[in-house]
Amino acid sequence: MNRSFSYEQRVGIDAIAVHVPRLYVDLVGEWATKRAAELGEPSVEALIGKVQKGVGVVEMAIPDAHEDSATLAAMAAVKVVLQAGIDPREIGTIAVGTETTVDQSKSIAAYVLGMLERRFGIDLRESGAPQFQFACIGATYALESTVNMFRARENTKPYGLVIATDVSRYPLLSPGEYTQGAGAVAMLISENPRLCTLDPRVAGTITRDERDFFRPNGMSTAVVDGKYSIDVYLDCMAEATKLFLQRSALEAKRNGADVRGERLDQRVDHLLFHAPFPRMAEYAALRIIGEAWRSNVEQFPFLQPLLEQAKLSGDTQAMQRAFEKSLAASKPFQEFFAARVTPSLTLAKRIGNIYSGSMYLGLASLLESSPDRSRLAGSRVGFFSYGSGASARVFSGVLVAPEKAYKPHILAELCAETAGGSRVALSLADYEHLHRGPLALEGAPASLSQPLPSIRAAAGEFALTRVGAESSRARVDLGYRYYDWIPA
Ligand code: CAA
Repeated sequence: MNRSFSYEQRVGIDAIAVHVPRLYVDLVGEWATKRAAELGEPSVEALIGKVQKGVGVVEMAIPDAHEDSATLAAMAAVKVVLQAGIDPREIGTIAVGTETTVDQSKSIAAYVLGMLERRFGIDLRESGAPQFQFACIGATYALESTVNMFRARENTKPYGLVIATDVSRYPLLSPGEYTQGAGAVAMLISENPRLCTLDPRVAGTITRDERDFFRPNGMSTAVVDGKYSIDVYLDCMAEATKLFLQRSALEAKRNGADVRGERLDQRVDHLLFHAPFPRMAEYAALRIIGEAWRSNVEQFPFLQPLLEQAKLSGDTQAMQRAFEKSLAASKPFQEFFAARVTPSLTLAKRIGNIYSGSMYLGLASLLESSPDRSRLAGSRVGFFSYGSGASARVFSGVLVAPEKAYKPHILAELCAETAGGSRVALSLADYEHLHRGPLALEGAPASLSQPLPSIRAAAGEFALTRVGAESSRARVDLGYRYYDWIPA
């Protein structure tokens, strides 16, 4: 497992922490009972089967009325600082990736900076604090920018903070409803990182001007062409993977690196996908591993009959689908997927789609739930990032000392409050109430309204406490969001 390129400068992720709302919807409970008839499913069991097996989720995190992308980001930031045991004054830049921003102008990173200053009693004014937006890939571009700042030695402090934060929201009763979620992932970036060194000069990036998923200004829920979005994701990911393989082969040659082989499954040990829902990771693995194995069919003779069979299906797309369906049912693929992908999906099943943080949640999930955590050090991780609209970026990194650098915390938090965790199940009525959000003032957007009362009062966390309402000569704060630390 241990094959490292010999790169001159080591920059990457020093620590990672996750924060998700404590409220959640149990997708096999009251929600399924009511929705089965509303969605025209033949039975409650059929809907549960589709959501649990077909889509791959069982629970989805839902923010309370005092939570939004800014509070989730600040909470994840506090966690990563405390868990890494660093002095927060050593952070010199904060970059946030989000597609569910809280203000059309102000960067969430500036809000986070203020919350960190108040929480730790420090001054972070000498920091940059940009926000990156490109659907779910925004945080990957934030990471790239911050990592390159360190590679160029333009950083003024030892750490950069990159945060992926989002609240995924689709219309009630739409096929997207059971792929919602919310959460933030915060990562400290540094030289000589303790968690994961990122490989330079290997990233493969693809961007296409697409309409697969978007959220027009003024809308609180996403518009998505579900099946088409899956096709665009797969096409972009396959192209970006090809570029990644070409660039990493060149880099390996340039560095005289010791690599086992040029196939994707030889290049990387663990595959972390953007996972809007866990089955999507399976579709993506089938596409890119299918291509890797198919182009080396002499090494995978079991594929020959599958390919022959698929050829009978008609056009190229039907052939591809038939081939991937039979590959999914094959033992070699199932073993590959169970060992190299499944551990990264444990958290997504219980949290849902957190958009820009999804792939990084996959890294935390691998670190938290890998059956063999002690053997992760030295293994190479492939990152398969995607954002609708559409862009895919594939890159890689080597885990350094994950056992020392990562403190498992999320699975414990996802236990019920009554069992020592922090989770509280939402009734369907409360979930739908939160989903509708505050009522719009007459003729004004809902974002100018005060937040709804919380389902569970904020305690030991940052909270949106009020929305400004003044527009006088003395003071203007109409629609400005005020965040405070609420003690436990
Ligand atoms: N038991 C087991 N499996 C079942 C089942 C049952 N009772 N009923 C259905 N299924 C299976 C289906 O066979 C299907 O599996 P296969 O693909 O293997 O055939 C799977 O469940 C899904 O079924 P449908 O296609 O009927 O599901 P759907 O109509 O609910 O649509 C969806 C699924 C398109 C993902 C929809 O939830 C959606 O639009 N989600 C939001 C968009 C999205 O996430 N797109 C992903 C790419 S874009 C992206 O990645 C960016 C992002 O974050 C949004």
